[in-house]
Amino acid sequence: MIKLKLLEIRNLKVYFNTEEGIVKALEDVNLEIDKGEILGLVGETGCGKSVTVLTVLRLLSNASTISGQVLFEGQDLLKLSEKEMLKIRGKEITMIFQEPMTSLNPVFTVGQQLMDVIQLHMNLDKKRALERAIEVLKLVKLPDPDYIVNKYPHELSGGMRQRVMIAMAISCEPKLIIADEPTTALDVTIQAQILGILKHLKEQLGVSILIITHNLGVVAQICDRVAVMYSGYVIETGTVAEIFQHAVHPYTRGLLKAIPPIEEKVERLNVIPGNVPNLITPPSGCRFHPRCERYKDGVCNAQAPSLRQLTETHTYMCYNPYLPEGVVEEVNV
Ligand SMILES: Nc1ncnc2c1ncn2[C@@H]1O[C@H](COP(=O)(O)OP(=O)(O)OP(=O)(O)O)[C@@H](O)[C@H]1O
Ligand SMILES: [Mg+2]
Repeated sequence: MIKLKLLEIRNLKVYFNTEEGIVKALEDVNLEIDKGEILGLVGETGCGKSVTVLTVLRLLSNASTISGQVLFEGQDLLKLSEKEMLKIRGKEITMIFQEPMTSLNPVFTVGQQLMDVIQLHMNLDKKRALERAIEVLKLVKLPDPDYIVNKYPHELSGGMRQRVMIAMAISCEPKLIIADEPTTALDVTIQAQILGILKHLKEQLGVSILIITHNLGVVAQICDRVAVMYSGYVIETGTVAEIFQHAVHPYTRGLLKAIPPIEEKVERLNVIPGNVPNLITPPSGCRFHPRCERYKDGVCNAQAPSLRQLTETHTYMCYNPYLPEGVVEEVNV
């Protein structure tokens, strides 16, 4: 029997009509998340990370084209009615944003906001909803939850507010939490605490987490697998060990080389030359080819590479990858 993945994104394409032309934001995105795993989604600004997760939650209102499949426990979310989607969004799949102050309502206490969400999705009376609110505040390790429930968002620190957001995200026992840059606005110690909490929740509750980040350090710290995006494609995926030790795509290697070393002093940081491409007139073939050190004329600029598989967990899209010696590439069928 084939084991169902929790989430499978297949050949997702998303375009936007704008005054300047059609923005080809996602061209061919393929992603999978298993039950109880943390997947890191990385890539430079504008590569389509947020558009991918907003499509999963069906929160894009102005896309002119959305095609492909977003299978959640085998059910295609792109085919659900808005009413059916309401049962998934906020209950089965929840989201944590970068800046909690924009997601929390300043005029209600933390407790009221948590209870609203809990009562909406869990069919509990007020007393049980309050108990659940306190319980989830404990799960995110907020000190003195009985006191915190009566506080307004502005009375809490940034790190505490982000914990409240995580508490809200887990309050209805979701199967998947999507976190879009959840620690970028926080200082490094608080960042480490929040990541520790997410990891702990995965272990304790078995929830799956899709975490979007610019920071490969975050990936190394908490993820099981990584998906690297470039200009509307997922160009490489693998376990953390596969990506950090044996990345095959020149773009992934460039990202890894750009991490500043901790020990040595360096004159200049490595950067990937060139800029992220314009999505209205993207480069032909592999969209990375104008910046690529492994570029082969007539091949890389002709057609977009198909998805290839190196191991059960390691996939990539590249005509001229850094394959380990003796490995013959396999092409997906
Ligand atoms: N609603 C929209 N209308 C038109 N274009 C959009 C819309 N939303 C996103 N885009 C475009 O789609 C591309 C992908 O954007 P997205 O927000 O997914 O990038 P990102 O990878 O999340 O970047 P960042 O790391 O900066 O958050 C960008 O070029 C962006 O300008
Ligand atoms: Mg984004």
